[in-house]
Amino acid sequence: MNVVERLEALRTLGAHERGIDRALLTPPERRARALFASWARASGLHVTQDGVSNLFARRDGTRANAQPILVGSHLDTVPTGGAYDGAYGVAAALCALDVLDVRGVRTAHPIEAVAWAGEEGSRFPLGCLGSSVFAGLNDERTVLEIVGDDGVTLAQALASPEGGLLEGLPMRTGRDVAAYLELHVEQGPVLEDLGLSLGIVTAIAAQRRLRATVTGRSGHAGTVPMAMRADALGAASELVLALERAAREQGDAVATVGRMLVEPNGTNVIPAHVVFSIDIRSPDEAKLDAIEARLTEVIARVRKGRGVEIELEAFERRSSTPMTPALRDAIARAITTQCEAYADVPSGAGHDAMSLGKIAPTAMIFVPSTGGQSHVSEERTADRDLLLGVEALANAIVEVDRVVD
Ligand code: GLV
Ligand code: MN
Ligand code: MN
Repeated sequence: MNVVERLEALRTLGAHERGIDRALLTPPERRARALFASWARASGLHVTQDGVSNLFARRDGTRANAQPILVGSHLDTVPTGGAYDGAYGVAAALCALDVLDVRGVRTAHPIEAVAWAGEEGSRFPLGCLGSSVFAGLNDERTVLEIVGDDGVTLAQALASPEGGLLEGLPMRTGRDVAAYLELHVEQGPVLEDLGLSLGIVTAIAAQRRLRATVTGRSGHAGTVPMAMRADALGAASELVLALERAAREQGDAVATVGRMLVEPNGTNVIPAHVVFSIDIRSPDEAKLDAIEARLTEVIARVRKGRGVEIELEAFERRSSTPMTPALRDAIARAITTQCEAYADVPSGAGHDAMSLGKIAPTAMIFVPSTGGQSHVSEERTADRDLLLGVEALANAIVEVDRVVD
């Protein structure tokens, strides 16, 4: 099966009229992992999983004791997501190993196609969950206690037969990695604008995820005079707009409030309690510091002015992740042998490469996203570009195999 056919099969898992819902350890996400495992076995690969449901499919190398080169991405989606973000890089990793088989290529290093668990942070509030645990950036036991949107802990979800670990798969041991490669859709407009099919990522922007909790005072919407209210949603709204202004003022920074829970959520009840997510990103960490500092000032003002309590908790801070120059050069050589042009492009989106970049030489290849769209059901990449990306990835594996220890 080529990558287009594999993506068609994956796209049906979790699909509904508004997009794809395939959050970590839900039944459709488990079906996607099972499909990955069956494809990998059909290609003669040795499939393993680890304690947080990362999946690995290994093609042996020729050099004794060589550490593996990992090649992968993720199978989970954002709510009402599209068919390419993550799934492409996972399907393409398996296809690239098939390409090596067809060409009769033997690599010195073992190559492992990887499906990282829970990159999006859609159900459990930690982005790049599986790759962070694998890279040792988050302690596994602590992560297992994280509570998802539905009140279920990660440990409980992993044990559930409908959504949890795959049965009968051996556990992978060891975390040694010679290098990491990830192929992904660009999720922005730059490559399409340049009329190019391939990009080599320069660096992934720094990002932070925070949670704000606003506690006010509930009451009757018709009887409590405006001057006597402590409306949690009114206060939250001031913070959302202040964040937007702070990111605009910094320039080259973005801020998003994408999720908000309002209680008691009644038309005629003053909101008592609001919890909302904050996602801020920039290539320049100083700008994130400045946005957080502004937020802290505004919180102090709103707290005093409106008589509400506001708590701010940062649960994820990732510094900007430069890609490894020697691997970028290796990918450039690989693409040049294909007689294709490419551009060096930054990534505003986060990727599992942020985690692996902390422990091993790491690089990424991008293919264009039509209209620059992503994290929406309409995201699309032309079949020709999807196929070219697999070729580039297979060629890059061969080059990287030569340059890493
Ligand atoms: C993942 O796609 C992210 O950038 O948040
Ligand atoms: Mn992704
Ligand atoms: Mn994504």
